[in-house]
Amino acid sequence: MKKVTVGAAVVGAAAVCAVAALIVNHRMRKSSKWGRAMAILREFEEKCKTQDAKLKQVADAMTVEMHAGLASEGGSKLKMLITYVDNLPTGDEAGVFYALDLGGTNFRVLRVQLGGKDGGIIHQEFAEASIPPSLMVGTSDALFDYIAAELAKFVAAEEEKFHQPPGKQRELGFTFSFPVMQTSINSGTIMRWTKGFSIDDAVCQDVVGELTKAMKRKGVDMRVSALVNDTVGTLAGGKYTQKDVAVAVILGTGTNAAYVERVQAIPKWHGPVPKSGEMVINMEWGNFRSSHLPLTEYDHALDNESLNPGEQIFEKMTSGMYLGEILRRVLLKVAEEAGVFGDEVPPKLKDSFVLRTPDMSAMHHDTSSDLKVVGEKLKDILEISNTSLKTRKLVVELCNIVATRGARLAAAGVLGILKKMGRDTPKQGGSERTVIAMDGGLYEHYTEYRMCLENSLKDLLGEELATSIVFVHSNDGSGIGAALLAASHSMYLEDQA
Ligand code: BGC
Repeated sequence: MKKVTVGAAVVGAAAVCAVAALIVNHRMRKSSKWGRAMAILREFEEKCKTQDAKLKQVADAMTVEMHAGLASEGGSKLKMLITYVDNLPTGDEAGVFYALDLGGTNFRVLRVQLGGKDGGIIHQEFAEASIPPSLMVGTSDALFDYIAAELAKFVAAEEEKFHQPPGKQRELGFTFSFPVMQTSINSGTIMRWTKGFSIDDAVCQDVVGELTKAMKRKGVDMRVSALVNDTVGTLAGGKYTQKDVAVAVILGTGTNAAYVERVQAIPKWHGPVPKSGEMVINMEWGNFRSSHLPLTEYDHALDNESLNPGEQIFEKMTSGMYLGEILRRVLLKVAEEAGVFGDEVPPKLKDSFVLRTPDMSAMHHDTSSDLKVVGEKLKDILEISNTSLKTRKLVVELCNIVATRGARLAAAGVLGILKKMGRDTPKQGGSERTVIAMDGGLYEHYTEYRMCLENSLKDLLGEELATSIVFVHSNDGSGIGAALLAASHSMYLEDQA
């Protein structure tokens, strides 16, 4: 009897030990899993650091590149494109004008009725359509035919009161948000495609010529009176309502900035000096690159696998097309190396661009105590269910690192422009007010990003100057701005005078 009892006790103790060992083992695996996940996160955070001193270096590098790009064609990664816009809207523009806005996720057709002196915008109407993904990587004929057909529909549906008198052609401002080498206010050739567009037969094509041919094919009788980048349109649209607008920044699918430059400071401009003595410059800052940019292994991999490797590096760190994709890449590493989403790597996590920035923004802004939105997004988009609160918190922390780096770099970019304009130091007797017209879905909808950008710039500028720099959201400014520039470059202008 005794022996049996002792034997049973030994077996029992062994079982308890085995279970305990299993638990310890499981806990150890779990804790080493989290240890690895946290190590990946901390390393990423460290590499993404954008302390003020670094941002100042980035801003300085931006200013240096601006000078180089203005000095000579091809002098810098910053193209600093001459726009032929040497006069921004005055408020005297009058008549009915159209705009086509192409270059982001959606494209728009707009009609604006301008009331002339102090009349403002009497009427505006727009139609929006998304660009089918197949057209983004097709031929230029297919792309231009599609937008011309949308324009034809828009015009066909318009009320008679907007019709032009007999013999008068409708006029259009074309917002074409890609790098274009302009040869006049309404002509230019595309230098390269960005933002996931890759049109095979379109290198150096005549942008306005292509659109005009497509409009003919679709039976639209319209003259392109202005060809503008979205930053330039936003600057013009902003200036129409606020006279102190001097800079425009787009933070949307892509990113870019334009500003008003003294013609004397543009050595590569060999044309006549305009009356205003000024010229709007389309910087194409998305292509900015500097050794001071905090690039990580994820950025390098994203760039290598992109449609335009080596190009648009600043854009790939800051804009809406890429932020969600950077996050996905970090999550994939966390899944592969730390197994936080289970033993198997969730297959969806391997799909490039499956995690979009609006979804990242929704997760980042989740204020619920159990991070419900994060849980839902992980489930709906990545098919990862039953995530723990700890996992969800990790995801939010990663969103924060990616968005903060992007927003702070954008702030450094703005500081670089203010430096170039000589508006980055307080002036005796009060500083000139500088309004920055902002637009783009990222700026408009990603509140954390927007606040981080604005606060970072204020910190960099210091309290005294911060109050003289004002951000305004210029909603749809680029389309309206293009219509305004079509009005101020109307072929009928002399008839009116
Ligand atoms: C384009 C710019 C454009 C910006 C914002 C960039 O990818 O190169 O021309 O202004 O996106 O739309």
